[in-house]
Amino acid sequence: MTSMISADAAGTWRLGDMTVNRLGLGTMRLTGSAAFDLGTPRDRDQSIRVLRRAVELGVNHLDTAAFYFSPLRSANELVNTALAPYPDDLVIATKVGPGRDASGAWLPPARPEELRGQVEENLRQLGRDHLDLVYFRRMPTIASVSEHVGALADLRDAGMIRHIGLSAVDPRHLAEALSVAPVVSVQNRYGIGASSQSSDVLARCGEHGIAFVPFFAVAGSGAERGRSASTEDEAVLQVAEAHGVSSAQVRIAWTLEQGPHVLAIPGTGDPVHLEENVAAAAIRLTPDELALLAA
Ligand SMILES: NC(=O)c1ccc[n+]([C@@H]2O[C@H](COP(=O)([O-])OP(=O)(O)OC[C@H]3O[C@@H](n4cnc5c(N)ncnc54)[C@H](OP(=O)(O)O)[C@@H]3O)[C@@H](O)[C@H]2O)c1
Repeated sequence: MTSMISADAAGTWRLGDMTVNRLGLGTMRLTGSAAFDLGTPRDRDQSIRVLRRAVELGVNHLDTAAFYFSPLRSANELVNTALAPYPDDLVIATKVGPGRDASGAWLPPARPEELRGQVEENLRQLGRDHLDLVYFRRMPTIASVSEHVGALADLRDAGMIRHIGLSAVDPRHLAEALSVAPVVSVQNRYGIGASSQSSDVLARCGEHGIAFVPFFAVAGSGAERGRSASTEDEAVLQVAEAHGVSSAQVRIAWTLEQGPHVLAIPGTGDPVHLEENVAAAAIRLTPDELALLAA
């Protein structure tokens, strides 16, 4: 199943004062088929084509980061080159907290006072004067998120960012952040087979009217190296066959069935996969299929 289907086929969600189609695009795979510096750099023109086609297909929510780069490609630079001047309705979400040096090696997680520099780096690379949505991406060594969220709230007050999100958090961090500043979105690893603990965050977000944005929802296990179709789950294959769609499309459709506040950001640098992923916005799974996938 491929599209002339638009990204609005799964409806919309409000991120603060911005409305996005629930089917969006993650930019991490535009720089290489595997995450970060692993794998072969993607063909530059192809990555630019993917971004432009995504917007043509109605995608208006991009998820990116300054630390998404491979030796020869930067996700933010590709976004800027492909899409600036940006369409008015395009929401570009980015992440701060983690950082990499010029060689690609990971730096220690940013201290609260270092977040401003990371926000400025994103502004420079994207060619914007403010960022729509900035996630504080928590690394496991950070127990409390209050000071980092406080630093982002200051940047919001200064007009550099519009909305705050949290990534890689549990309910405790969410509660802590909400006592400091409003949060419009949580981005956590989530997908078919996720633990009840992960589902807890999804549910809390729903209660607060906060978006929940799963990552690695298509790639599943071993996600850093990309998706492996050879290890696909039997139930996913069965549902895919019944709909005449791919298993990746079932995983995206499943994501979108998890609640009206759940947004999909499948990552791809492949134009054919992009068409498929957008078309998945129109797939509806039956209660029996959802039960089969839950088992
Ligand atoms: N907050 C965080 O810590 C965090 C961590 C990781 C990622 N993210 C964000 O979440 C987004 C999604 O994560 P992700 O890109 O790592 O993983 P994903 O969306 O779960 O899966 C991407 C992988 O699946 C493949 N794929 C995509 N569509 C496909 C299709 N229709 N058929 C077959 N294979 C397909 C991609 O390869 P091709 O490129 O060849 O299609 C890639 O290997 C990222 O782009 C990034 O923006 C956030």
